Amino acid sequence: MTAPANPYFASPALYDLLYVGPRYDGLYLEAALAARGPILEVACGNGHVLIPLREAGVDIDGLDYDAALLADAGRKLAERGLAAMLVQADMRTFTLPRRYALILIPFNTFLHNLTAADQLATLRCCRDHLADGGALMFDVFVPDPGRLLQHDGAPRLQMEHPHPDGRGTVQVFNATTCDAVEQVMSIQRRVEVLRDGEPAETHDMAFQLRWLWAREAELLLRAAGFRRWAVESRQGPAGGFARKERIELGDAVLWTAWKD
Ligand SMILES: C[S@@+](CC[C@H](N)C(=O)[O-])C[C@H]1O[C@@H](n2cnc3c(N)ncnc32)[C@H](O)[C@@H]1O
Repeated sequence: MTAPANPYFASPALYDLLYVGPRYDGLYLEAALAARGPILEVACGNGHVLIPLREAGVDIDGLDYDAALLADAGRKLAERGLAAMLVQADMRTFTLPRRYALILIPFNTFLHNLTAADQLATLRCCRDHLADGGALMFDVFVPDPGRLLQHDGAPRLQMEHPHPDGRGTVQVFNATTCDAVEQVMSIQRRVEVLRDGEPAETHDMAFQLRWLWAREAELLLRAAGFRRWAVESRQGPAGGFARKERIELGDAVLWTAWKD
């Protein structure tokens, strides 16, 4: 297993600093509680989704290719008197002994597949690990082409929130460029921690995402062997998904594909 080249994913502490508060985790909890069988979170990182599900009594396994994030998830579970099977593996090539009622890939993570071959490999691998009648769920953003074209590589403040330890502020600056032909965004990210208004820590990282158009996602699902799927869109700033007639640019959408 090769270690990820990307420093963004190699620091659990930084991950916790960046992603505070709930995202669509409530939705995945709801789906997990309704599932009739074991659940797998693909690319579970250090457990933002997996741990609350495990705390709710869900039988969930996790995989990720980053050993440091997995170790952090295991430590947090142990602190709570819990355990889960956590496997270091690649979402494109994993082989696990169980078959799952539900497989989750939360939080845009599917977009780390940068080629059609990788996208298909991940979808096929997930489908192979579903029990009959099981479902794969993943959420991704739908880009707004107008905004994509505005990305000029200049750093811009993306988010700012209080430091999780209660002292100071975390500022996240993204410098983004887009290759619109390849559908790939390249993001240089700087995280500044301010204490008493003064810069105290700086972290630099970089990653790429390949966005997915809705009709393209359908073709990929079909090519991976799925025959039935549904898509829902996010409604409102507080998150959550609701069925909408039309997917709009800038929405976050949730795909559910069933293995019939
Ligand atoms: C945005 S984080 C999401 C983590 C977690 N699911 C969450 O919601 O907090 C993306 C995760 O994908 C993992 N990842 C990226 N590419 C991967 C791959 N090919 N195989 C397995 N994990 C991968 C990273 O290590 C990281 O933990």
